[in-house]
Formats: sequence, C-alpha cells, structure tokens
Amino acid sequence: MRLRRICLIGGTGFVGRHLAARLIREGYRITMLTRRREAHRDLLVLPGLQLLECRLFDAPDLSAKLQGMDAVVNLVGILNEQRRGDFQRIHVELPRRIIEACRSNGIKRLLHMSALRADAEHGPSQYLRSKGEGESLVQAADDLQATVFRPSVIFGPEDDFLNRFARLLASSPGVFPLACAKAQFAPVYVGDVAEAFTRALQLRDTIGQAYELCGPKPYTLHQLVDYVAQITGHRRRIIPLGDRLSWWLGLLMEHLPGKPFSRDNYLSTRVTSLCKSPFPEIFGITPSAIEAVAPAYLGQRNTNARFNRWRRWARRD
Ligand SMILES: NC(=O)c1ccc[n+]([C@@H]2O[C@H](COP(=O)([O-])OP(=O)(O)OC[C@H]3O[C@@H](n4cnc5c(N)ncnc54)[C@H](OP(=O)(O)O)[C@@H]3O)[C@@H](O)[C@H]2O)c1
Repeated sequence: MRLRRICLIGGTGFVGRHLAARLIREGYRITMLTRRREAHRDLLVLPGLQLLECRLFDAPDLSAKLQGMDAVVNLVGILNEQRRGDFQRIHVELPRRIIEACRSNGIKRLLHMSALRADAEHGPSQYLRSKGEGESLVQAADDLQATVFRPSVIFGPEDDFLNRFARLLASSPGVFPLACAKAQFAPVYVGDVAEAFTRALQLRDTIGQAYELCGPKPYTLHQLVDYVAQITGHRRRIIPLGDRLSWWLGLLMEHLPGKPFSRDNYLSTRVTSLCKSPFPEIFGITPSAIEAVAPAYLGQRNTNARFNRWRRWARRD
C-alpha cells in the first residue's frame, strides 16, 4: 500500500497536531481541513503541510477538498454540545458525509477516531452513543478500507485533561472538590496514538479492524488528580463528590461558557474507560506510562509558576 497524500479532518486539535508531525517525519504529504484557517496559522511551520478552510457539511466543498488524497483521517469530535443536535451532526452526520466524499473521489483508505466504550445502543451518554453510531457507519462501509480507533482518555503535552486539572488545582484554595472521583481510565500517550495511526496506514491487516487503545495502567480520576497535584506542587485536599453531587455539578457547569463539565460528561464516566486487552500487538508499540511522560510537561508548569512567583517577589516595591 503506497499512500502518500493524507487528509486530516479535525487535525488542528491536540491529537491531530501530534499525528501531523509524526506523518510528516514519515514523508507523507498532509492536507488539513479546518473551519478557521487563520486560527491555526502556526501549523504552517510544519514542512509541506497544506491548511485548507472547508465547510465540512457542504458536500461539494468537502468532496473538492478531498480530491487527489490517498487516505482520510477523521479526528473531529466534541465532548459537549454547544447547540442541541451537535453530537449527532458531528459524530454521525459528518462521518456519513466523509464516507460519501471518499466514495465520490475513489478514496479507499479511511482511519476513524472513535472513543473507548462508544456504543450506539447501550452507551450511557449522548457522547458515547453518538460516537458508537458514527463508528458503526464507518464499519458498515465495507467498500472502503476503514480502521477504527477507540482510545481511553489521551494525555501528552497540550492535553486538555491533566493540564486542565493542573490549572484548576493551581487556582483552587486548600480544598478541591472532585466530581466522578471513582471513574476509571487507562490514559494513553498521544505519541503512542499517533504512532498507531501512522503504522495503520502501512499495515494492510489493520483494514476492517477496530482497535482499543489504552495506556499500561488503570487509575481512578482521584488517583490521577492526586498525581497531578503532586507533580505540580499544588497539593490540595481532594474532596470526592458522590454521584448525586457530581450530577448537580454537571447541571450547574453546563450553563457556564464553554461548558467545562456537563451531565453528559458525568454519564460518560458511568462506564469504566479501560481496555479489554493490552495495546494491540500489531502496532509493535510498548505504551508509555503517565509517570514517564507527564512530569516533563506538568513539572514545567510548576517551574514557570515558581519563576513567576519569584519575579513578583523581586518586583515587590
Ligand atoms: N483527547 C482525548 O482524550 C480523546 C479521548 C478519546 C477520543 N478522542 C477523540 O479523538 C479525536 C481528537 O481529539 P482531540 O483531543 O484532538 O480533539 P480537539 O483538540 O478538540 O480537536 C478536534 C478538532 O475537531 C474540529 N472540530 C471541533 N468542533 C467542531 C465542529 N463543531 N465542527 C467541525 N469541526 C469541529 C476542530 O477543528 P477546527 O477548529 O480546525 O475546525 C478541532 O481541531 C476526537 O474525535 C475525540 O472525540 C479524544
């Protein structure tokens, strides 16, 4: 399989940036489609990367932008709706349109990002049900050569998971109330996720498969937040909130700008985000542990905070 021109849809985000850098190192030519080119101009420093604005839900525009591609990677996803119906539009309707655009351009290879425990019928949240529906559409498109990825939560520099807790811990007083503290995850390193996608493009045996991606160790959210507090030096008394309070916190916070937490997020944690088996052998990857990666980028936050405190002290008069 000699694929050279890869289109990343949703590639301007956390995973996409790591994946683009990895694919470029491998010699692929990358086209990224985005809603707002101006917002992601910093990506143009990547050699050979083409960043195109696209109205993803406009069939002729999407089809035109996919012309000449050898493979498409769909990374578009949201954790919360900004408008009613967003989950359905983004996790189900968009994959449907991407499949159609692949067909009309004769593109066979499609890598699709889903999520661990996505399940169209039994998912406890709209997020997991809509991700499951999108994934089923991709798997049903058997005229294409599709591969689906289902990661647990992903960590790495610029993640919105450990970094978010680091920010929240830094700005909280002595105590830190934590919703869904018992939720379980096996965080997977973004570098390993990017590597699995890259190798999938080269391995024919991955066609028609769905892969769960987890890191080497399970943690509760409580353990993870405790770990972040330790690494960043922002030790707080973590107060785990029970189910009812977590739900109420979701109700409250989904009315804040940007919806930092919602009842749907709470419902997603009602199932454990743990894989049934170790990292798929076919990729030949030994997944990285949080402890091997996170201190380098979380510790940096701590160093910066200490430096800023010192600077404020030095300028105190
Ligand atoms: N991060 C995790 O822990 C995790 C875990 C499991 C699964 N996943 C899945 O992995 C994929 C990538 O995650 P990520 O963390 O890299 O996400 P991200 O940083 O939020 O990036 C997602 C991209 O999707 C596009 N997008 C967002 N809202 C959109 C909308 N309303 N319409 C069209 N495009 C939209 C954005 O591109 P533009 O702004 O350029 O248009 C954005 O760059 C997602 O499908 C996510 O569900 C992530």
